[in-house]
Amino acid sequence: MTSRLHPKIALVTGGAAGIGAAIVRRFVAEGARVLVGDRDQPRGAALCAELGDATCFHGLDVADAESFAGAIATAVARWGRLDILVNNAGIALPAATVQDTSLEQFEELVNVNLRSVFLGCKLAYPHLKASHGCVLNVSSMAGVTGQERHAIYGATKGAINALTKCTAVDWGREGIRINALCPAGVWTDTLRQWIKVQPDPTGIDAYLNRIHALGYCPEPDELATVAAFLCSSEAKFLTGYVMPVSGGSECGYNVHAPTRLADPHS
Ligand SMILES: NC(=O)c1ccc[n+]([C@@H]2O[C@H](COP(=O)([O-])OP(=O)(O)OC[C@H]3O[C@@H](n4cnc5c(N)ncnc54)[C@H](O)[C@@H]3O)[C@@H](O)[C@H]2O)c1
Repeated sequence: MTSRLHPKIALVTGGAAGIGAAIVRRFVAEGARVLVGDRDQPRGAALCAELGDATCFHGLDVADAESFAGAIATAVARWGRLDILVNNAGIALPAATVQDTSLEQFEELVNVNLRSVFLGCKLAYPHLKASHGCVLNVSSMAGVTGQERHAIYGATKGAINALTKCTAVDWGREGIRINALCPAGVWTDTLRQWIKVQPDPTGIDAYLNRIHALGYCPEPDELATVAAFLCSSEAKFLTGYVMPVSGGSECGYNVHAPTRLADPHS
């Protein structure tokens, strides 16, 4: 293990579980100190108790400006600055078409997934400007290629990708980098919940393996290694990069994938 992130100070949103928790573990292992911001207090506090003084838990609702400002202030008060913001917290459900999504569901997806990234970038900006720091947004391949019954989720992730590129242009000369990583599937609670609401959950494991060209659906630590690289000085000339970390899921068709039975236009 390298110490690429020593002596960086990071805030990881949604850091209590899944990809966020794997990023927290990896960052600490590579020398960073990390504020774990999450609305799941018991799980976040347990992770910090396990990892020790290099971490600190802060109860955070990323959709709430005051709450987000409090998390950033806590990191700065505790460790003196902020070098890295990982906007990871997000929700994937409901998995639905536009016509089957209520306005309340639309607003929740937009607030938790997109408003949060806007808030985090805006509130962290003065600290990142001072530290010549960086932002990493955890986006999704659903915001790049599209996905059935994920119109609003995909829209929030596509907007994150656009925000990442535009902000890279705005911030580049101030020495602040901003990138996004796009998983396809990753074994987390969110994915397990998603499987439960599929019309036919049988065989979804095989499907999840098949959509990745590399042949398997990854564990969160495979994303965390890439996150550490993107937030380290090894990636100092990378900004505005929307990076698939998707086992090649976007590369092409898989001959073993199920096919449609008929062309509806014929
Ligand atoms: N798992 C996948 O297959 C997959 C694929 C593509 C993208 N992603 C993205 O990865 C990110 C992390 O997802 P995951 O799969 O690790 O999910 P997860 O459910 O394992 O963890 C998400 C964490 O975010 C926290 N969280 C949710 N809403 C929050 C809020 N309003 N404020 C603060 N914390 C909040 C949860 O408490 C939880 O700890 C999300 O942005 C998701 O869209 C996941």
